[in-house]
Amino acid sequence: MKIEVVKNYDEISKLGAKYMIDVLRNEEKVVIGLPTGSTPIGMYKIIVEEYKKGNITFNNAKTFNLDEYIGLEKTNTNSYYYFMNSNLFSHIDIKNENINIPNGMAKNIKEECNNYEKRLKEQGPMDILFLGIGQNGHIGFNEPNDYFETNTYKVSLDESTVNANARFFDKIEDVPTSAITMGIKTILSAKKIVLLASGESKAETIKQAVNGKVTPMVPASVLQLHQDVTIIVDEAAAKYL
Ligand code: GLP
Repeated sequence: MKIEVVKNYDEISKLGAKYMIDVLRNEEKVVIGLPTGSTPIGMYKIIVEEYKKGNITFNNAKTFNLDEYIGLEKTNTNSYYYFMNSNLFSHIDIKNENINIPNGMAKNIKEECNNYEKRLKEQGPMDILFLGIGQNGHIGFNEPNDYFETNTYKVSLDESTVNANARFFDKIEDVPTSAITMGIKTILSAKKIVLLASGESKAETIKQAVNGKVTPMVPASVLQLHQDVTIIVDEAAAKYL
């Protein structure tokens, strides 16, 4: 694992964007795995600016999002579809057919998970996958558990995750309690993984993920087993490293 400690959130965003720009420039056809959450927003802003300056193109890029809530329409401002569109996709030249986000409104969720996994296998592997991290150590929506789930699957969200994400919703009852997420094996299939974490609220889980034992109780700890992982943290999130 490579640990990059930077000063603050802005520096995380700049460095994260640099990793994405490098891959976009160096690969002819690129497959990028993308996260949601508040952490990557700054990185997406920089990517949009670089696109507008003419420095990068997504013409030959495909993207696969990590996860999506079950039961939110695409028009719902809290859906990850809406998030990705407003923070990134509507501002860049990516082709619609090259955007992949699990469909949380699918009638048959199991089938949707299997199809998503299949599409990723056919079009992948991801050249680079960006991750955030939940306060409980979740990556994508892989919650602490007593075993690692492998492929894309339906997950019930932890109470702590529902509580943490409630800040985006009008009331806590509106927060979905289940989601579709890439599994751990799906995540580890990316050639390169870059995890972004900012702020003291992530410090304890970052310590466990980086220096603790590999356990499904801290899903991010599994990243220790991957051969090309970079963790970008600010000084606050690196407090216990
Ligand atoms: C959600 C997402 C995760 C993300 C996490 C952290 O639960 N499913 O992919 O990493 O939030 O979010 P934040 O960056 O807002 O702390």
